[in-house]
Amino acid sequence: MTTTLAGKVALVTGGSRGLGAAIAKRLAHDGAAVALTYTSSPQKADEVVRDIEAAGGKALAIRADSADVEAVKQAVAETVHTFGRLDILVNNAGVLAIAPIDQFSIEEFDRLVAVNIKGVFVATQEAVRHMGEGGRIIMIGSVNSDVAPFAGVSIYALTKGAIASFTRGLARDLGPRGITVNNIQPGPIDTDMNPAEGDFAEGMKKTIAIGRYGQGNEVAGMVSYLASPEAAFVTGASLKIDGGLTA
Ligand SMILES: NC(=O)c1ccc[n+]([C@@H]2O[C@H](COP(=O)([O-])OP(=O)(O)OC[C@H]3O[C@@H](n4cnc5c(N)ncnc54)[C@H](OP(=O)(O)O)[C@@H]3O)[C@@H](O)[C@H]2O)c1
Repeated sequence: MTTTLAGKVALVTGGSRGLGAAIAKRLAHDGAAVALTYTSSPQKADEVVRDIEAAGGKALAIRADSADVEAVKQAVAETVHTFGRLDILVNNAGVLAIAPIDQFSIEEFDRLVAVNIKGVFVATQEAVRHMGEGGRIIMIGSVNSDVAPFAGVSIYALTKGAIASFTRGLARDLGPRGITVNNIQPGPIDTDMNPAEGDFAEGMKKTIAIGRYGQGNEVAGMVSYLASPEAAFVTGASLKIDGGLTA
């Protein structure tokens, strides 16, 4: 454990698995008390909480579907009620669907927009009501907002592009309050959403300069920096962590 974020409170959406779990553990390692949301994996969320507590940290798992406005508002309220404040919001929860545009259903479109865009808006709006000077909003966008290396990714790219634009606008709104807003754009990271094994992954690896998938803890390191006091002059930025996929 370090003390960079001692006394701070973080909320990580979608913290039960993948990137969100790595981010929650890293922020707790840095000294923050961490709340994390999940929808379908209570046991995995509890495991993350237990790991953090076993390492001497404070954590809380909250069931909150990012597509459910009231649940997201409640998650922010529960975080503040339990830990007394909110300093860092990591908008990580996200869903992916890949299909050619003529086969993309309206229901899938609505689900991606609800989780990847509307959920981010609601969490951010609620969170900033509690944040003071030094607050941090960190988005987990995607390189797909800038590049589409394969077909079928158009709607996912649309949602992640919206997050990059939202980040810039928010940075202007919140800069005068000393709150920074940044967007991390990962390339392929080994998670349930995008496993590093299989035919798709083998093709992908050939396009990555480093020649492998990234790991959740590598993205968590970038979150840790952006959440820290050292990053106070970084805002409105979209930062890639993609092993050179877009180099
Ligand atoms: N992996 C990659 O290559 C990659 C690349 C670029 C960007 N990203 C972005 O990184 C973020 C995390 O992706 P990941 O790869 O870690 O995904 P993942 O392995 O599928 O994990 C998703 C996490 O988000 C939670 N979640 C999903 N839908 C939710 C909802 N409606 N409400 C609340 N929580 C929800 C899941 O909770 P449950 O366990 O309860 O289902 C889980 O904790 C996403 O925004 C994704 O778009 C990923």
